[in-house]
Amino acid sequence: MENIIINGGRELHGSVKLQGSKNSILPILAASAATGGVSVLHNCPKLSDVEAAIAILRHIGCKVQRKGHTVIVDSSDVNGFEIPDSLMREMRSSIVFLGALLARFGKAKVSAPGGCEIGLRPIDLHLCALRRMGTSISEEGGMLECKCPDGLFGRHVTLNFPSVGATENIMLAAMNAKGETVITNAAREPEIVDLAEYLNKCGMNITGAGQSVIRISGGKISGAEHRIIPDRIVASTFMAAVACAGGRINVKDVEKEHLAPVIPVFENAGCIFDFNGKEMTVESFGRPRRVRLLRTMPYPGFPTDSQALFMAVAAKASGTSIISEKIFENRFRHVPELIKMGADIRVEDCCVAVVEGVKKLHGARVTACDLRGGSALAVAATGAEGQTVIENIHHIDRGCEAFEETLSALGADIKRVALLQE
Ligand code: EPZ
Repeated sequence: MENIIINGGRELHGSVKLQGSKNSILPILAASAATGGVSVLHNCPKLSDVEAAIAILRHIGCKVQRKGHTVIVDSSDVNGFEIPDSLMREMRSSIVFLGALLARFGKAKVSAPGGCEIGLRPIDLHLCALRRMGTSISEEGGMLECKCPDGLFGRHVTLNFPSVGATENIMLAAMNAKGETVITNAAREPEIVDLAEYLNKCGMNITGAGQSVIRISGGKISGAEHRIIPDRIVASTFMAAVACAGGRINVKDVEKEHLAPVIPVFENAGCIFDFNGKEMTVESFGRPRRVRLLRTMPYPGFPTDSQALFMAVAAKASGTSIISEKIFENRFRHVPELIKMGADIRVEDCCVAVVEGVKKLHGARVTACDLRGGSALAVAATGAEGQTVIENIHHIDRGCEAFEETLSALGADIKRVALLQE
């Protein structure tokens, strides 16, 4: 186990490059298993979730090489359609391998991914859509046995919620479906667009990605070369760090369009932005301003993944902010940890936080409970007085590449310490 120790109170200055998107590379790695060819994926972040996805690819017979931030996947000899629980449970999004295995083999055996730290995270929308496309699914002992006896069929699928994972699973299953698949009320996240762009390079014919109706027709598919989009949530992590600690930083390789849902919120809190092509400069000095009401929504609304990060800012803002988490039912586990640092936060009805901004947060011993909550604690610590020790930082390593090196390069006093095995 490892901890991060942060001595707060230092402004952030300097320049960093934004990593590739965790939530884009994961479904694209799954899709590469269904192509039967060689895919070369650039700007692939070095994350434990990516290593978990690579372990799944190797388990089913893919040859995978990593050369720096490029991952090469050869899925010509894929021979396994079962993913054991030990690999599935490594990360939540392993369920998206289901669609890829069905497209490749017409069958799959995967463990039902359990709920995780931020909520129950059911997969009913995934399974309902795959059944509609011709898959019979039985659940035995926590495993999902899936078979498409007559193959997969293109269908018109309407989602009752624009689920990112369900949209991705349908797109992957449609890689080998007979006829056109139409997804209505599809997720519109940039990661869906990136997946569609990769799949079109592989030979698919996908239109409408990024909108609520996506049309997908298969074709003769092969591997492809693709560059993963930058990680918009890590970009908001840097914004929150500057808002908490003060300073002025430059972030390279951003896609401004992807940040449109968060920029106004951080501007309202006092951040000043300047964009020059793919470079973002963000500065903030003095105490942040509160946000009257912030709701998390599906893209292009304010992302749920940035909620904890902005709460760290609101915790020391002038005034009272109300933050309503509309996507996941258990995504306030960072609240008690922020309270240990002196934050004044009350949670109403599980999903509404009333944050009374305090002048100063102070260091404390806190625990990361999930990826974004853990990142939020580190962000809060950079702007707190004194020393903060963050435990369970493996959560942060799932989605933030070289976390302490990056913040250190910006001037934070941060280090990682390995704990002696008890
Ligand atoms: C993806 O998770 C992201 N993960 C999450 O990021 C992100 O928070 C989420 O989308 C929303 O943007 C990856 O891309 C790997 P959903 P996913 O299906 O696909 C309900 C991070 O920190 N739902 O859009 O699991 C669900 O319970 C992670 O990077 C059903 O009810 O999210 C939730 O309330 C955390 N039934 C809502 O929809 C289903 O079958 C949104 O879930 C599927 C989802």
